[in-house]
Amino acid sequence: MEEIRKKRIFSGIQPTNTPHLGNYFGSMINWVKMQEEYDCAYSIVDLHSITVRQDPARLRRQISESYALLIAMGIDPEKSIVFVQGHNPAHAQLSWILSCYTQFGELSRMTQFKDKSQKHADNINGGLFTYPVLMAADILLYQADVVPVGIDQKQHLELTRNIAERFNNLYGETFTVPEPYIVKSTQKIASLADPTKKMSKSDENPNATVTVLDDRDTIMRKFKRAVTDSGSEVRRGEGKEGIENLMSVYGAVTEKTFDEIEKEFEGKGYGDFKAAVGEAVADSLLPMQERFRQIISDKSYLEKCMKEGAERAYAASRRTLQKVSKRVGFIVL
Ligand code: TRP
Repeated sequence: MEEIRKKRIFSGIQPTNTPHLGNYFGSMINWVKMQEEYDCAYSIVDLHSITVRQDPARLRRQISESYALLIAMGIDPEKSIVFVQGHNPAHAQLSWILSCYTQFGELSRMTQFKDKSQKHADNINGGLFTYPVLMAADILLYQADVVPVGIDQKQHLELTRNIAERFNNLYGETFTVPEPYIVKSTQKIASLADPTKKMSKSDENPNATVTVLDDRDTIMRKFKRAVTDSGSEVRRGEGKEGIENLMSVYGAVTEKTFDEIEKEFEGKGYGDFKAAVGEAVADSLLPMQERFRQIISDKSYLEKCMKEGAERAYAASRRTLQKVSKRVGFIVL
């Protein structure tokens, strides 16, 4: 019997900030689950992160921490390919080639480029502009079938599909055209300081965001201070976005429904509820945080994983790069 090939998943995460609860429950938990059904490759995209200025020492630390976090969360480095993007030179190579098949006009229409160039008006560099081409290279190198991303990356994925189709039309079937897997909006978690805004890694208010590495005291304090309305009943409703957001967090951690949560906290006030949410979050993160501390303090293990990940990533992408090189007319030795 012919062996059925598992579908390939590729996704990348920037190492610039510690993931928060929204990242974790919204997408990273899915990355762990997807390992059962798919052949997964997950990358810490260091090359992408220097499109905005980074402090080198901090970036180096963040790359290690992000990598260790993936493993601590349950991504199995034996099963999945877990690697640092810059450790596989094929990404930058394919990115160059694909940039010659991507139009200036297409890149100019990317909303993230427009947003970021407004935010970093003093550093609108070429990398910020060609960022989506590098992302396309990441995905196409591994012939990914499915790419789990947040809604903010949808436009980049459309562009990736267009580049792949364009190349295939010119040179014959070369790339798998990837499907986006957009994370459901019900799993979105809002800022604790302003429930009308998304929880964001770059929020200036430190109380707005709970990171997956926050300790219990910090978590408790942030949930206690979470902005809610002046009412007292734990239920959904008009003007109760703050409470509803806390209910989503509690639901994400405990897998309880809104109805179940409303019942559980009937007759109890916001104070009790906030404390319960904080406890539940701290408890659920604890085992992962302990694994994280173990991994991050074991430098040789971390390096070994990174090395093996890099080798496997290179091996998995080599054929695609050779094929592309041949098709465009380069000499492949
Ligand atoms: N651009 C993505 C983000 O900012 C990160 C990323 C880089 C990515 N390459 C990727 C995501 C490839 C999915 C697939 O979130």
